[in-house]
Amino acid sequence: MTFQVFKDIGEVSLAAARLFAVLASERANPTFNVVLSGGNTPRRLLGLLGSSPHVENIPWRNVHLFFGDERCVPANDPESNYGMVRHELLSRAPIPEENVHPIDGSAEPKAAAERYAEEIRDFFKGRSSGLFDLVLLGLGEDCHTLSLFEGTAALEAPAGRLVVENYVEKLSKWRVTMTPELVNSASVVAFLVSGSSKAKALKQALAKEGDVRAAGKCPARAIRPESGVLHWLVDKDSAALV
Ligand code: 6PG
Repeated sequence: MTFQVFKDIGEVSLAAARLFAVLASERANPTFNVVLSGGNTPRRLLGLLGSSPHVENIPWRNVHLFFGDERCVPANDPESNYGMVRHELLSRAPIPEENVHPIDGSAEPKAAAERYAEEIRDFFKGRSSGLFDLVLLGLGEDCHTLSLFEGTAALEAPAGRLVVENYVEKLSKWRVTMTPELVNSASVVAFLVSGSSKAKALKQALAKEGDVRAAGKCPARAIRPESGVLHWLVDKDSAALV
């Protein structure tokens, strides 16, 4: 695991863009397979990837973009994670349409989750580990990541499930999310965290194994890559309690 503290979200995003670019050039043969998250934190990063020098240097034809979670809304809804990525990155980077793998937010959640799991299985053709080269994650103020919220069924998903529908009581909404098991099989996982509102969650996420009181109820702690590397790219406001 690595833990790096930067001045602000601008610097966190620059570091994340560099990580993306380096891994893309190392692993683009045959394809560099990335999982993106929603929320506001990745917007700056996506903007950087879509502008010079990254937009010219990243081998976009070999990059495949997947989504770690999705809100159950159509792509043109302001809540849609795919819609956000389309706006911030796909409108700028020359990435072939067939390399983008959105979750269908308009479909019934269970059907969308099953179809997405099938798409992942087909894409990786029977491989069972090291599927994704890079997973980019955010951290919620309540310590959720992706749509893995405290007390929700996705955290108890049976072994072997890659993507599940997940009802989130506190939002009164369905989400579709990758499972911790799938994320934990990735080669590199990077959390991007910014802002003082995340300080308590970051402290909980990083609490020592076994320190139940310090860890609290923190779904992000379910993310522990099996043999991959975990990077924390955080700004100093979010790291204030660490
Ligand atoms: C989503 C995300 C979610 C997000 C966190 C942080 O779809 O909402 O995947 O897990 O990363 O909620 O969101 P912010 O970056 O907006 O704080």
